[in-house]
Amino acid sequence: MKEFNRILVSAALPYANGPVHIGHLAGCYIPADIYVRYERARKKDILFVGGSDEHGVPITIRAMKEGITPQQVVDKYHAQIKKSFEQMQISFDIYSRTTSPVHHKTASDFFKTLYDEHLFEEKETEQYYDEKAKIFLADRYITGTCPICGNPNAFGDQCERCGSSLSPEQLINPRSTLSDAIPVKRKTKHWYFPLQKYEEFLKEWILNGHKEWKPNVYGQCKSWLDNGLQSRAMTRDSNWGIPVPLPDAGGKVLYVWFDAPIGYISATKELTPNWADYWYQNDTKLVHFIGKDNIVFHCIIFPAMLKAHGRFVLPDNVPANEFLNIEGEKVSTSRNWAVWVHEYLQDFPGCEDVLRYVLCANAPETKDNDFTWKDFQDRNNSELVAIFGNFVNRTFVLMHKLCAGKVPVWHEAIRDEADTELVRQIREAKTSVENHLDQYKFRDALFTIIDLARKGNKYLQDKEPWKKAGKETTTPENQQLIDNCLYLCLQLTANLAILINPFLPVTAKKMLHMMKVVDRMLEWEHAGKADLLKTGYSLRAPELLFRKIENEEIQAQTEKLHRNAVKPNSAEPVQAAVVIQEKKPEIQYEDFAKLDLRTGTITQAEKVAKADKLLRLEIDLGYEKRTIVSGIALHFNPADIIGKQVVVVANLAPRKMRGIESNGMILMAEDESGKLHFVSPEDKIGEGSMVS
Ligand code: MF3
Ligand code: ZN
Repeated sequence: MKEFNRILVSAALPYANGPVHIGHLAGCYIPADIYVRYERARKKDILFVGGSDEHGVPITIRAMKEGITPQQVVDKYHAQIKKSFEQMQISFDIYSRTTSPVHHKTASDFFKTLYDEHLFEEKETEQYYDEKAKIFLADRYITGTCPICGNPNAFGDQCERCGSSLSPEQLINPRSTLSDAIPVKRKTKHWYFPLQKYEEFLKEWILNGHKEWKPNVYGQCKSWLDNGLQSRAMTRDSNWGIPVPLPDAGGKVLYVWFDAPIGYISATKELTPNWADYWYQNDTKLVHFIGKDNIVFHCIIFPAMLKAHGRFVLPDNVPANEFLNIEGEKVSTSRNWAVWVHEYLQDFPGCEDVLRYVLCANAPETKDNDFTWKDFQDRNNSELVAIFGNFVNRTFVLMHKLCAGKVPVWHEAIRDEADTELVRQIREAKTSVENHLDQYKFRDALFTIIDLARKGNKYLQDKEPWKKAGKETTTPENQQLIDNCLYLCLQLTANLAILINPFLPVTAKKMLHMMKVVDRMLEWEHAGKADLLKTGYSLRAPELLFRKIENEEIQAQTEKLHRNAVKPNSAEPVQAAVVIQEKKPEIQYEDFAKLDLRTGTITQAEKVAKADKLLRLEIDLGYEKRTIVSGIALHFNPADIIGKQVVVVANLAPRKMRGIESNGMILMAEDESGKLHFVSPEDKIGEGSMVS
């Protein structure tokens, strides 16, 4: 194992085009914060940097929607996001922003260095231009009718109704969303970064050098590298962003994914004059916490940029999480299907740790996961309240009742097997939490701690110290038994405070207060020991660590979620296209009989590189195997649908999608929320069976 002398942790820079929701927290901010607090407790030299991503198309779109300038957009949301993170106790050493002057200079210089080394390719291409608005149009800014399903509001990059990836050329009746003008093609020059030149280096570095990366991360990298990399434009035609630092580059800015990750470097610069140690020295452990949609940028593109530049350290790990769905559906900011952090904090004041707990316990570490309010309530009531809180509370109440509010004496002579076992479990829990955290397995670490509290409850229940106390006086023998029991329960409480601190820092603070000890006790090296609180030390009365969450509160949240969700049939144009599905004209039986519908089973499923909606499926039809490209990637996790039997239109003419020949189509039903469901035989039947 490599020896590191300092750690630099980054968490993805959220776009400052809206508030943060719990999916953001679960995806990267909570795991990053747990990791950082843990390493700080171990007295590592560690920095935690973050900030807002304030350039790019999402910001300009939001500005148009709200009728304000991009600067006003980022000012508003940067402040709001920063506050939500603070309230959630995300302990950034710096939370900066990509509109900062230091960042503009850092990103410009970076670009200039690569340019001066002749590492870009200059290319002139034709791009759509809006002559009325006098601006080049990103594909997203062009709408028109989808050539595949007829949706009149398809975008130039994709159709949200049928899921097809599109290019603006394919749209029927294309129009600019800015001015309604018909877009025209115009020549424009851009600077491309030839990623293919770094392919060998990336393969060696990731595929051979980082086999320990999480399977979801490693797998995505492998698929990108296997598919071959291409040059990517690192500049854009726009007036919002960092100007391209070249003489003949008016109206051009750096591509947002070029500048944003450099934001990690800029933030470190703003934070400390020693920033170069963290970025230039090889014994820095650089760790990027991100969500899965950022993997290619952090594992392929940014490292290639760093490598090209030549001076910088590369990430040691990129522990990306998958997505967190809400009540069974994908988070959608446009549909307002989300739990917003600032609203949660208003509705559940003082419950930041509860949200941290639930989002960690339910973190989408290896696959997409679901957040439900019911599960939120259950975890709070039956884990935090009934196990952890209950143990600490009982220990303190009994200590006040049976030991005069002081840490009792330990009587070694009467130590029994249960005592020895509990001490061993404390020691073991510490090691196990460490092993999990060192591998970025935050859920397992958390469960280990709850399990330790559960063992504490069992120990107390088995010992029943309350039964040993006499009405008026307690015999000295019994008092000794009581003393030993509560002595260990108090030591366990101190251990629980240390172990839970990275996860639930507010709770750990409350526990310190009850135990009347200072922050230093939370240093990790103290964990695993059974003599942290000294005999005779008097402790405070117990405080409630967690409160029960009532059914009404949960019901109110579920109702709010549904009430505020943009209804599919509301005025929102994009949404309307999803649902109001026109009836089709009458057909004859012969028309229907032309379809060769067959059952088949999905044997392989994988994302199509560079097409976020498409899955490449291998289907076993019994008499043959087929490759089908299907626009369902946003609805299903590839791993979850393998083995599923579906109905296939087997005689559909082949069609090329993203360079892959698709042979057929899968029948899907769309519900009122726009979610897709497979149409499948009720029970699994023979492959290739005819459907009619
Ligand atoms: N703003 C991007 C997103 O929300 C993340 C940027 S991460 C950075 O997906 F590395 F580029 F900063
Ligand atoms: Zn369509």
